[in-house]
Order: sequence, then C-alpha cells, then structure tokens
Amino acid sequence: MPGTALLQTERLRLRAFQDRDLDALGALYQDPAVTRYLCPPMDRLTAWRAAAAAIAFCQRRADPHQPGIWAIEARADGRMIGRVGLSPWDDGGRLHWELGYLLATDQQGQGLATEAATALRDHANTVLGLPTLVALVHPENEGSKRVLTKMRFWPHPGWVVQEAGMPREVWTWP
Ligand SMILES: CC(C)(COP(=O)(O)OP(=O)(O)OC[C@H]1O[C@@H](n2cnc3c(N)ncnc32)[C@H](O)[C@@H]1OP(=O)(O)O)[C@@H](O)C(=O)NCCC(=O)NCCS
Repeated sequence: MPGTALLQTERLRLRAFQDRDLDALGALYQDPAVTRYLCPPMDRLTAWRAAAAAIAFCQRRADPHQPGIWAIEARADGRMIGRVGLSPWDDGGRLHWELGYLLATDQQGQGLATEAATALRDHANTVLGLPTLVALVHPENEGSKRVLTKMRFWPHPGWVVQEAGMPREVWTWP
C-alpha cells in the first residue's frame, strides 16, 4: 500500500516500505553505530542486500490489521529515517510479539524512537488486540533501555537470551 500511512504522530509517519527506501535503509544497515547492539557489522554489499530483502519482506506484510515492520518517515521533509515493527518471537515454548526499532544516527536524541514505538505499541494493543509485548535489548544498549523505560516496559531480572550471537535482556509490557 504505497503512500498510505499506518499511523501518524506529531513528527512522524509510519508507513509501508517502498522501493525508493533502498539507499536510505542500506545506509542505515551499514552504519556500525546503528547495528552495534543488533548484529555484526555489515559491508556495503551485505547491507544493501539485507535492505533489499527487508523491504521486500515488509512490503509483503504491510497489512494494517496484522503485526508488521514499518518505515519511519519524518513528516517535515518526507525522509525515511528508521524502522519500527512487531515481529514474532518464540521463547522456546511460547509465542510473543517483539517490538523493535532503529533510527538513523543523525536523528537520535530527539525522542523520535520513543514517539514511533509508543504509537506502534498503542496500535498493537488497541487495534491488533495484542495485550502484551516483549522487547529484546542488549544489556549495554542504554539508549534503547531508556526508550523502553519511558514506554513503561519492564526488565525481567535474570531472563537473558541469545539472539544473533549477542545477549539480550527480555523486557515486557505492560
Ligand atoms: C536506541 C535508539 C532507537 C534510541 O533512539 P532515540 O530517538 O535517540 O531515542 P529517544 O530520543 O526517544 O530516547 C533515548 C533516551 O535514551 C537516552 N540515552 C541515549 N543514549 C544513552 C546512553 N548511552 N546512556 C544512557 N541514556 C542514553 C537519551 O538521553 C534519551 O533519554 P531521555 O529522553 O530521558 O533524555 C537509537 O539509538 C538507535 O536506533 N540505536 C541503534 C539501533 C538500536 O539499538 N535499536 C534498539 C534495539 S533493542
């Protein structure tokens, strides 16, 4: 559904990914400051391949009535500045919905990740009917933990899992 916003906030539009997002998403994936707590660093080819695969995957799942992954667009200038989404996560016996987000480095520190993720959290709850969400966060990712705290997620003491070869604390909402 190109051009259609899933959600709009004061400064942001959450919308389906489009082919024209490839360069911006590839650049995000190639930025080690963005991927530091998510996955090993990617060279240019790997980052652009991952971006192309992600865009194709997200476009297939851009149904406003289902969990999915959405582009974060700045309303001021239409620039695609990040990603926010809900992904299935199996803890080894139970299916959860994981809230995840990332933002271009030059856009961080303005409350934008919290603004986008809060909008999707509320959409997940009120429109999709998901009563609980989880977030998986690297123990040293203080910025992301602060975002989760502001959104009233809570860490589960001692519940740490391995994802992409890194430890992740499990936080839950509400
Ligand atoms: C984590 C991330 C999404 C935060 O985006 P953001 O738009 O800067 O977040 P916000 O501005 O909404 O909030 C960040 C908060 O963390 C704080 N913060 C940032 N870095 C911090 C650090 N190293 N230590 C402590 N607090 C930190 C900020 O001061 C802010 O808190 P405040 O509002 O109380 O001042 C962004 O840094 C990012 O995309 N990182 C790379 C991808 C990533 O790690 N995603 C999360 C995966 S779980």
